[in-house]
Amino acid sequence: MKLKMALTAVLTDATVQIHFKDRCSNYVTTTTLEIVISESQIQEAVARLAQLIQTDYKDQPLLVVGVLHGSFVFLSDLIRQMQLPIQVDFVRLSSYDEATETSGVVRLHHGVRTPVEGKNILVVEDIVDTGLTAKFLREYFEDLDAATFRICALLDKPVRRRTPVTVDYVGFEVPDQFLVGYGLDYNQRYRELRAVYSLDPQTDGS
Ligand code: IMP
Repeated sequence: MKLKMALTAVLTDATVQIHFKDRCSNYVTTTTLEIVISESQIQEAVARLAQLIQTDYKDQPLLVVGVLHGSFVFLSDLIRQMQLPIQVDFVRLSSYDEATETSGVVRLHHGVRTPVEGKNILVVEDIVDTGLTAKFLREYFEDLDAATFRICALLDKPVRRRTPVTVDYVGFEVPDQFLVGYGLDYNQRYRELRAVYSLDPQTDGS
């Protein structure tokens, strides 16, 4: 059971400070998130990526597949900037559980329900880190006889790769920091933030 609850979230241009109060002892801790990518930088990148995708696929139908949960904010902004005949579906995978380090084993919890055979697939990820999820999904959609397969990721951490993967559309290359916001979480928190922040799990109060 979580004993701490968020009291206030103080937003400035550079940081978010989230104060936690322990229900039993009144002990208060503060988590400071440092901004890495601003809301306006994200929105510029989304528009740029949508334009690239639209140009590449022209009027061809596209099945856009979001990887839950991290991609849902990015995906919803991205598809609303694209003038293309699209379908949308989601897959749910896990490799992280409640940690900031991947277990290295990707598990599929929910696959797509939309027929895939002969379709152009665009997987939308929040971040490509080790590349294991991307590799898993490429094989998954090849087995389902997709016509083409591409990946669009808002963030790419190439220094963390454990397996080579091609990320066809990248918003930002980022260094090896744990990031939250704009869909990305730490223990299911911070997804609602409009910008991307770095989080030091050692100082996080959750
Ligand atoms: P990969 O399989 O290691 O490439 O990891 C992909 C998934 O790990 C992403 O879709 C995220 O859910 C999670 N992940 C990797 N790095 C981060 C991070 O910095 N913050 C939050 N989630 C992350």
